[in-house]
Amino acid sequence: MSDEGIAKVFPPREEHRKGVPIKSEEEYKRIYDESIKDPEAFWAKMADRIEWFSKDWDSVLEYDEKDVRISWFKGGKLNITHNCIDRHVNNGRKNQAAIIWQGEEDDDVKVYTYGQLLYEVSRVANMLKAKGVGKGDRVSIYLPMIPELAFAVLACARIGAIHSVVFGGFSSDALYNRITDCDSKVLITSDGGFRGGKAIDLKGKANEALEAGTTVETVIVVRRTGADVVMEEGRDFWYHELLADAEPQCEPEVMDAEDPLFILYTSGSTGKPKGVLHTCGGYNLYTTVTFEHIFGYQPGEVYWCTADIGWITGHSYILYGPLSAGATTVMFEGVPNYPQPDRFWQVAEKWKVNVFYTAPTAVRMMRKTGDDWIKMHDLSSLRLLGSVGEPIDPEAWYWYYDVVGGQRCPVVDTWWQTETGGIMISPLPGATNLKPGCATKPFFGIEPLTIREDRSECDVGENGRLVIKRPWPSIMRTLWGDHERFKDTYWNVYPGYYFTGDGGRIDEDGDVWILGRVDDVMSVAGHRIGAAEVEAALIGHPAVAEAAVVPVPDEIKGEAIYVFVNLKDGYEGSDELRKELVAQVRHDVGPIATPKIIQFAQGLPKTRSGKIMRRILRKIAGGGMHEDLGDVSTLADPDVVDQLIAGRIS
Ligand code: PRX
Repeated sequence: MSDEGIAKVFPPREEHRKGVPIKSEEEYKRIYDESIKDPEAFWAKMADRIEWFSKDWDSVLEYDEKDVRISWFKGGKLNITHNCIDRHVNNGRKNQAAIIWQGEEDDDVKVYTYGQLLYEVSRVANMLKAKGVGKGDRVSIYLPMIPELAFAVLACARIGAIHSVVFGGFSSDALYNRITDCDSKVLITSDGGFRGGKAIDLKGKANEALEAGTTVETVIVVRRTGADVVMEEGRDFWYHELLADAEPQCEPEVMDAEDPLFILYTSGSTGKPKGVLHTCGGYNLYTTVTFEHIFGYQPGEVYWCTADIGWITGHSYILYGPLSAGATTVMFEGVPNYPQPDRFWQVAEKWKVNVFYTAPTAVRMMRKTGDDWIKMHDLSSLRLLGSVGEPIDPEAWYWYYDVVGGQRCPVVDTWWQTETGGIMISPLPGATNLKPGCATKPFFGIEPLTIREDRSECDVGENGRLVIKRPWPSIMRTLWGDHERFKDTYWNVYPGYYFTGDGGRIDEDGDVWILGRVDDVMSVAGHRIGAAEVEAALIGHPAVAEAAVVPVPDEIKGEAIYVFVNLKDGYEGSDELRKELVAQVRHDVGPIATPKIIQFAQGLPKTRSGKIMRRILRKIAGGGMHEDLGDVSTLADPDVVDQLIAGRIS
């Protein structure tokens, strides 16, 4: 990040204000100030952006600071699928495309209108009911990016079941952990999926995950690749066969605003993933309102977020936000570079995409393949570009702005997290001065702050830890089954604040610059991976005595995984062993956590109490010399540092 306080500023142009809700900086400031002065009044007013079965809530916000119990609109009744589907069907959008599904092969396309979406989701909802799924039951979903994934998610929400989507790139072990943590009753998976022209297996991994014994009673399997799969009699059923008997009418379950909507697991700084729990009302409202304001979606437009629904971005901004706002949302099965490096642009041109939302890693990848791949496409439909998942470096930002957006489209760099449910810091296209590499301004009702270790507030321009002052409607409510961990991780670190785990800096214009994670969580190609999860996988190998994992900068992926392993006596480091260790991580965590570099070490830098100093390893992996490491005299064995530097692999 090279802003150095001299960043170039791009004020909104006249055409950026057209049709968007907030049309000037003054308007933003006025509403923002109101929203901070009285957040409850603000959100009560905003609540009309969605429909409620009953608006008779006990209070807008209840916040018990001590036990961190948060509720928004408790007592209010709604169903998110009513907002995402029925209300549009009732309001003249029955025949508007809700989801455009673009398969990996170009002619593999399905378009679902809001009317058809209601039909599909209702049938899947009835199918789940017939398998005994009811309100509050957990359903794990392990599917590729096929329409049935969207139907399954929405069907759960319709009957009040709590969905837990597990990204298809996760391993069987990861799936097992995510099923057992929340005691899922049903697993919805498929015979496989397509990725970059190859069929990948999912059912085999699902079978492996269930082998050890879980609470799953029923497995529903979607046919996608046609691969031969092992089905267990009495437990496994084909989706299309069950669906044949499902009625197309299913009234949405009446949900309290505070009833759970979904669990989504995310990495933290211990090996055990955290089951982030979101609830119905606040999440529905916040994702809708942020979608409308930040993307400025206008009727008739086509919106495309390239994320996978296995991540929070897909939950909030492929499905719930856009559908609740009545948008046409593209769901894409493929990858950016198959069959050719211009796949994104070809799809954007084909569907005349107006709003395009992707991750910096994809931007960097496409920038590297060269401008010719993009210049062959007519991208004049694009109105706005979005970025999410990691800091976008100014070089990538400029390329995105200049080459993809033809200098016409504002770039909204949106900062948020699985835990925050929706976008927290982002420009608004008609109001905010853009700065390349900067997430800029807090959304309404959000009060970010940068603080020092001692909890005092940072000065303007000073790097600190990013915290948020008070709960907002889509904040996670707890970690599934572990409220203490929820409190300890997010609320007790800097009492009184929600701690994001990110570093940040606020400049003289009040713009927020995100500086990346300050904990042991890495961001590899925009995927959040806990160092501890990878370490646990490595230690599972018989040759490994200890392992430490740190991120190193990577030109395309942002960060890559650098591993230090100390072998047990009797084992020798070799390329063969490296391959085994890589395979172990891929098996235990998933291919997304594949280490880039494995360095065999005689020892690891530790404090005298035995804590591995990842801070030092980070610097060594990144090319630091002895003098760059700060004080190492407190280490149990300071000599280890020079050995590690000598053995570094670049
Ligand atoms: O470090 C921040 C980074 O991604 C983390 C959250 O990861 P996850 O829960 O997987 O959600 C990603 C998609 C919302 C954050 O703690 N991050 C996300 N967006 C940005 C970002 N870092 C910098 N700039 C962003 N726009």
